[in-house]
Amino acid sequence: PKPDLAPTPPMGWNSWNKFACNVSEQLIREQADAMAASGMKAAGYTYIVIDDCWQKSRDADGNIQPDPERFPSGMKALADYVHGKGLKFGLYSDAGVLTCGGRPGSAGHEFQDARQYAKWGVDYLKYDWCHTGSRDAPAAYMLMAKALRESGRDILLSICEWGSSHPGRWAHPVGHLWRTTGDIRDAWQGPKEWSHGLLDIIDMNAELWSEAAPNGWNDPDMLEVGNGGMTTTEYESHFSIWAMLAAPLVAGNDMAKMDADTRRILTNAEVIKVDQDPLGRQGRRVWRQGPLEVWVRPLQGGDRAVVLFNRGDAAAEMSVSWELLDLPTRLKADVHDLWSGRKTHGVAGRTGGRVASHGVLMLRVTPALP
Ligand code: DGJ
Repeated sequence: PKPDLAPTPPMGWNSWNKFACNVSEQLIREQADAMAASGMKAAGYTYIVIDDCWQKSRDADGNIQPDPERFPSGMKALADYVHGKGLKFGLYSDAGVLTCGGRPGSAGHEFQDARQYAKWGVDYLKYDWCHTGSRDAPAAYMLMAKALRESGRDILLSICEWGSSHPGRWAHPVGHLWRTTGDIRDAWQGPKEWSHGLLDIIDMNAELWSEAAPNGWNDPDMLEVGNGGMTTTEYESHFSIWAMLAAPLVAGNDMAKMDADTRRILTNAEVIKVDQDPLGRQGRRVWRQGPLEVWVRPLQGGDRAVVLFNRGDAAAEMSVSWELLDLPTRLKADVHDLWSGRKTHGVAGRTGGRVASHGVLMLRVTPALP
């Protein structure tokens, strides 16, 4: 069976959103240092994952080689460095003959690559879907899952086939998370080439709630928080909705150069606690009217996480009834605003407040004992 490596959604950092092919051992060491020192590690982030373009070629025996100019010390040394910081190490490959960036893929080398990753000390594999020709996605990912299991090391498998084969229906026995869409873009809205703005990604994930469970999560793609294309309010909405979606929290910014807002958002302990709730049920959009939406996520012990989301261009007064939360109307509850920190005791029937344009009010509703 699949190893129990993601009882809650994985948390980490990946090089792609900010650095694309500009990866090197120096960058990865810097990011590992920053994760350990910036409060990210303390907040629960664990994996340092190198995305595309670390590979260069295969040797005469077919063994995959890192780019010797960018990774002169080799992958074992880099994995050791990351492990030395108390973190875990991830790599990227592709089920095709080439990766999306044109580097050697793992097609036909699955077992050899998995054994190599295990020797290097890899803990996480993101497995992409470029140049796969007529390959069948479930079969290709099952083969790599088998190779990883036979490698002798626990390696988490992140499936990245962009949702085309509806992985939520087949990937539970195979991987620990699966992308549900094409790539996210650091923008509030709108498609462009292969990528989608935040609102589009959210809409594409809203109906997939029934497919997530511990060790098998929908992946709406990595975070753009801190990359500069959205406002602080929009990044708070991004992070809040990811927590409601029980999404893997994979930072995609430069952790060595985080401003105060980026750090505050990415390390908000209460929002992370919602994301990491042990019940492992994904939240749902339960109400929408024009640009206004209510999202609810049931949490372990009977609490509810609630997001009042205002996609509109003007601030709005919003509220949610206990009925919509599936709570008895007369029940008294404590309401904790997870961004302002404000706590209100003994609330009955309904809660809410003013929600900024493009912003959220994220609340944790705790039924009080009578
Ligand atoms: C496509 C994936 O969806 C991205 O997240 C990234 O891994 C790129 N490929 C790398 O080429």
